[in-house]
Amino acid sequence: MRHITRGRVHAHHVRSRLPWLYESYRGAFLELAGEACGEKVTPARDNRYSVVLNVQRGTQMRFECHVDSNPLTGLLFCTDHVNGGELVFAHDAAAASIAEVERDCSVVRPSAGHLIFFDAREYPHYVRPLTQASDMRVVAVMNYYTESCPESTRPAALNRHLYGDR
Ligand SMILES: [Fe+2]
Repeated sequence: MRHITRGRVHAHHVRSRLPWLYESYRGAFLELAGEACGEKVTPARDNRYSVVLNVQRGTQMRFECHVDSNPLTGLLFCTDHVNGGELVFAHDAAAASIAEVERDCSVVRPSAGHLIFFDAREYPHYVRPLTQASDMRVVAVMNYYTESCPESTRPAALNRHLYGDR
C-alpha cells in the first residue's frame, strides 16, 4: 500500500498555542457557521476533533479523496496559493477516484483569511498537490454538528482509526 503523508497540528496544541482560534471556533466562527446553516449548529464537545490545522509541505503530501462524517465543516485558509493546493469538490456523489472528481467539480483556491463552510457528507473532495517543493499550505479545519446530525453520530471506527479509541 502506498503511504500518503500529511501534516497536522492537533487540537490540544491549537488550544494552547493558538487560543484565538480555539475561542473563535466556539465563538465568532460558530455564529457564522449558524448563519451558513439552516439549523442550530454546535461545536464538538470532544476537543480532539474540534479544530485542527492541516499542513501540507512540498509536493509529496496530500489529503486524499473522502466524504465527511460531520454535517458542517468550516475551513479558514491560512496561506495563499496560485497553483496547486486547491480544494476540489465532485459534483457527482458517486465519483470514486480523483480522475472522476476532476471530471465535473467545483474548485476552491486557498486565499489566506477566507473562511468557508460546507456540508460534504455526500460529495467526495480532495486537495490537489502543491506544485513547489518549497511551498506550504496551512488550513484550520473546524468540525461542527447540527441537531439533525449530532456529535453522537460520529463513527466510533473513525476515532479508533485516528486516536486508537477502544
Ligand atoms: Fe473533508
